[in-house]
Amino acid sequence: MESMTFVLFGATGDLAKRKIFPALYNLYVDQKLPQSISIIGLGRGELSHSEFQEKVKDSILDFSRRLEHDAANMGEFLDYFRYSSLDVNSEEDFQQLLQLVKKREDELDLTQNRMFYLSVAPEFFDTIALNIKNSGLGQTNGWKRLIIEKPFGHDLKSARELNKKLSRAFLEEEIYRIDHYLGKPMVQNLEALAFANPILQSVWNKDHIANVQITAGETVGVEKRAGYYDQAGAIRDMVQNHMLQILMMTAMDKPEKINAAGIRHEKRKVIESLRPLKEEDVPYNIVRGQYISGELNGQKVPGYLKEPGVNPSSTTDTFVAARLWIDHPSWTGVPFYIRTGKRMKEKSTRIVIEFKNKENEQYKNNQIDPNLLIIEINPNENISLQLNSKNPLNNGKVTPIRINFSNEQIGLGVPEAYERLIYDAVNGDSTFFAHWKEVELSWEWVQPILNAFEGNFVPLHEYQSGSYGPAASDSLLLENGFKWWLDE
Ligand code: BG6
Repeated sequence: MESMTFVLFGATGDLAKRKIFPALYNLYVDQKLPQSISIIGLGRGELSHSEFQEKVKDSILDFSRRLEHDAANMGEFLDYFRYSSLDVNSEEDFQQLLQLVKKREDELDLTQNRMFYLSVAPEFFDTIALNIKNSGLGQTNGWKRLIIEKPFGHDLKSARELNKKLSRAFLEEEIYRIDHYLGKPMVQNLEALAFANPILQSVWNKDHIANVQITAGETVGVEKRAGYYDQAGAIRDMVQNHMLQILMMTAMDKPEKINAAGIRHEKRKVIESLRPLKEEDVPYNIVRGQYISGELNGQKVPGYLKEPGVNPSSTTDTFVAARLWIDHPSWTGVPFYIRTGKRMKEKSTRIVIEFKNKENEQYKNNQIDPNLLIIEINPNENISLQLNSKNPLNNGKVTPIRINFSNEQIGLGVPEAYERLIYDAVNGDSTFFAHWKEVELSWEWVQPILNAFEGNFVPLHEYQSGSYGPAASDSLLLENGFKWWLDE
């Protein structure tokens, strides 16, 4: 692996502590980082190198999936780290950073491969990118790459503006947009499931699939993030990115080659074929909800409007369900339903594929359930298939049974999303990062919904905390003769 420098903006923030340091450490222990690497953390406050290294160590002890740590390994790992305080608007600070980067490159004899990871609020993305360029940090005789996290813009217009600014400093192929759902093993597995299994591949289309249901339910409320969430809502927080990414991964056709270009090409075809919604159609295809108080896991929890930091008359959506159509020959007539919400009955991200249930004369007195393929993404990783089988305990009545394929035996050894994604970015593999076109087309599809929400054309349904969301989301499926599976 080529030697490199990893520059982390926002190194004293929460994401660095919970995800990025533990991920780097686990990659190091698994020997998946270059043997020569310099890691430079940047934050607003003043810290000595050793104070910073202590912080990194604490974060690993608190958040790494590994429970045991070898002291010598830890020492060597912490020695990669240096710290510099930085005001993102200060040219002088960027010059100081450049000097530190170069000094470490000389000391460790590193190739000038530079990764810039922006773990900061999105309003700083363009300033930092521009200062990387202007300071000379971006002029290297190796590669340079930029990793950024969502939110990528607040709507279509701001996303386009942001992209334009970033592209002054980085080429599209140098930008790695993290959508952490694309780092989840089961999401990465979708392509193998659909295309490495001829049995499934032959039925992965409109001739055999009746509908597809993608759910991302959470039991947590807005937590301490009202400042961000009350402006974003579920539509920006989950639908525009994670939900549409899962939809693309589920509905894509078999790529000519299973590589970044092949997969991105097929994903793009899906998002390009999404039938656009007119503002006036939004109320018929989108359900907007907001949680009220209720009981979750035996505890009373407050409604959204009573959460600290939330505007008491807020109309922000904490739940969204949608019906989507993909105008592509593979999917004609197959509705895709998505739903996501806070304070729902269970934490569960899953895809349920409902197969067509052909009329069966022989079983007309015995109602036969459809076959289902259930792909559980989070918190359990599991695939199950619902088949029909005679039940000897019930006079041979045909009843559904579930066959489970679980990955449980792999357990603690599975790299987390951030490990996989950082590893891929370090290796220049952009397969599981969001391409600008995917982001732009997702915003394009979402924009009429944002307008309709803002104009208040869409009812805001209350739903009780601890439920599966408003009843209106059941009606969305009922209109087509379907129901949400697994809401028991
Ligand atoms: C984040 C959202 O992107 O994803 C959060 O901002 C949400 O609001 C989280 O809770 C869910 O991620 P996961 O991996 O727990 O399903």
